[in-house]
Amino acid sequence: MNVLRVENLRFAYDREPVLQGVNLEVDAHEFVAVIGPNGGGKSTLLKLIMGELLPDEGSITVLGKSPRQAREAIGYVPQNTNVNLDFPIRVLDVVMMGNPKQHREAANWWERLFPVRYNSVEKRCAYTTLQKVGMEAYLDRRIGELSGGQRQRVMIARALCAHPKLLILDEPTSSIDIEGQKQIYALLKELSRDLTVLVVSHDLSVITEYADKAVYINRSSYTHDLRRSPIHLQQPEGEHFCEIELMQMLAEKTCDCEHHAGKKEKH
Ligand SMILES: Nc1ncnc2c1ncn2[C@@H]1O[C@H](COP(=O)(O)OP(=O)(O)O)[C@@H](O)[C@H]1O
Ligand SMILES: [Mg+2]
Repeated sequence: MNVLRVENLRFAYDREPVLQGVNLEVDAHEFVAVIGPNGGGKSTLLKLIMGELLPDEGSITVLGKSPRQAREAIGYVPQNTNVNLDFPIRVLDVVMMGNPKQHREAANWWERLFPVRYNSVEKRCAYTTLQKVGMEAYLDRRIGELSGGQRQRVMIARALCAHPKLLILDEPTSSIDIEGQKQIYALLKELSRDLTVLVVSHDLSVITEYADKAVYINRSSYTHDLRRSPIHLQQPEGEHFCEIELMQMLAEKTCDCEHHAGKKEKH
């Protein structure tokens, strides 16, 4: 069973479809990079996968269920937009926001008798997930004191708290320095041993170094299996140019697929 299966998806906010003929299959433990031009429909696709929007046509299944039924199996990390850095919230509090209810109920008799802010089960869970992202030493630090990369790793820990099977990230490293980006992608690669990762990214190193598949979304979709045919970019310093070049290459393949009417593109 696929962790994620999108079949012949069509979605429109108004009359013009934003997504049309989108197909995607993701297996357990795959690390999938979603790329494509701004406005191509990437965030919309993520919202459909999370059940926030419903398809007009076609189907989406997550672990064999509808996105809404599978909601608890999906972890989400939003774009690294500017968090209000003055907000006096600690790393522990942020991670606790992702904590499922059963941890609250799992308190021992003492804690049930004398309720505490966070019980021992919750604290242990927060500590373990922070360990997974290498941020356990920052438990009591204010979120505003952290670098962008560190903050985003805390957001990943928050999503991991609910033990998702599918982790979805929408441009998690925008405006994070190169070193911080690399650490995040290396971490995601590591996490993909235990779960499945779907990440929207403009960072080409994800595609060349980490991802198993690249999915190009520009209204329709094209999936490129990077394990079968890795992409080597010749000009690593001209990153912006390379992204355009890569997108052009994948866009041509999307057009090929559209010409072969009736043949769904699959890899
Ligand atoms: N809530 C919305 N209502 C109407 N149109 C929207 C909405 N959100 C996005 N769009 C439009 O849908 C298209 C795809 O947007 P989006 O999924 O955000 O693309 P991407 O994430 O690839 O940049 C764009 O043309 C955008 O303007
Ligand atoms: Mg987007």
